Amino acid sequence: MTDDLAGVVGSARAAAGPLDTDDLPELDLFGDEYAADPAGTVRRLRARGGLARSVRGIEVLTYERAKQLLAAPRTRSSMRDYYLSEGATPLVVDYIDNGLLAWIEGDRHRRIRSVMERAFSLRSVDQQRAMMREVAERAADRLLAAETADLVADFSYWYPIEVLARLVGVPVDDIPRFVHSSAEMNALAAVPLAPELPRLEQAIRDLGGYVNDLVEQRSKDPGNDLVSALIEAQESLDRLSREELVANIINVIMGGHDTTKLQLASCVHQLAARPGGWARLRDDGAFARRAVTESLRYAPAVPWELRVPEVDLEADGLAIPAGTPMVVNAYAANRDPAAFDRPDDFDPDRDDRQAHLAFGRGRHVCIGNSLARTEMEEALGVLAARVDDVEIAGEITWSGPADALAGPTSLPVRLRAR
Ligand code: HEM
Repeated sequence: MTDDLAGVVGSARAAAGPLDTDDLPELDLFGDEYAADPAGTVRRLRARGGLARSVRGIEVLTYERAKQLLAAPRTRSSMRDYYLSEGATPLVVDYIDNGLLAWIEGDRHRRIRSVMERAFSLRSVDQQRAMMREVAERAADRLLAAETADLVADFSYWYPIEVLARLVGVPVDDIPRFVHSSAEMNALAAVPLAPELPRLEQAIRDLGGYVNDLVEQRSKDPGNDLVSALIEAQESLDRLSREELVANIINVIMGGHDTTKLQLASCVHQLAARPGGWARLRDDGAFARRAVTESLRYAPAVPWELRVPEVDLEADGLAIPAGTPMVVNAYAANRDPAAFDRPDDFDPDRDDRQAHLAFGRGRHVCIGNSLARTEMEEALGVLAARVDDVEIAGEITWSGPADALAGPTSLPVRLRAR
């Protein structure tokens, strides 16, 4: 085993004698225990050594090991082989190869990421606050006008996609043309994948076609937007192929929509579900930032990421062969009592030394993390200024237990407008 991965397996051994991954305790994501009490289930499994097996792979449940796995250079985030084994067609494999920054490694990852970062830095997120507030005001009009308001359908679904459209340089009127395909792209992380492949292919075709046309149009008539900046970087630095350019624009649209939609809805839910939560937001301008940070720790919208070790891992008799899918379980890591006091309490005032893992760590750390945080802060600020109180008004619908994205997909609310 190499040093960079040494800590990941650690002393996961739960019994004497040689162990393989089948001997690890099971995290049954579809079982009754997990459905009734996910936090308690991961707590009990963490106490048994910190590793478990699930339908997704080998789950890393402790904060330190999760951090080590994210940072380890001898791992790949690529799932090409997995996709091929699930029957992915060349269209899907090409998209994975060209566009999914999170699944590309090495020099190619650095080259594409540096162009993306450069393009992002052209517009500092802070300078976009006024635009975000304007978009949030319109989304709040929609929410407050709804007869039976759903925080997701009437607010958090629309807000991040419109902010992204403005940043990327997509006409806002075009949003209905691609928003559905953008949501369908989440099939990329479906477990199991095979049944979802047809809708994934359709989404890649639709969104790819739309973005290709947009790049064509912006090449002739550049604007002050991300697409134009990426085209310029591509032409002047010759650092991005046309396929990479299109796929990465899709990646930003996809990566920045449902994530922020779910995280924002989670945050509102956490505040509304606790006495005095909304009042704090209303009365203390600095509270939104703390609430967003705590919501990311407490219920991360991206609850897990995959890594595949390039070498065999072995420690204390436990063997994990190279190529085994390993799951950085950010939900479990963010609730590790070794890193956070009272980890199952939602407490925006906490002052823990450790930073949550909701945006990942290291070379793949979320490129949109300040954008997402700023967006959520501004949205909460606008809502707090217009709404005196929020109550949960019906049954909440949640994402599936093994899904790559987590949070309320529907959040009925009763609002008292100011
Ligand atoms: C609350 C909102 C968000 C959450 C929780 C989130 C979470 C994450 C996480 C955990 C990763 C790391 C994946 C890995 O290590 O395998 C990631 C990567 C990424 N995110 Fe986000 N994200 C959010 C918003 C955004 C936004 C707004 C954008 C668009 C600008 C975005 C674009 C990306 C991209 C392009 C990557 C890949 C970076 C790389 O691999 O180098 N994300 N995100």
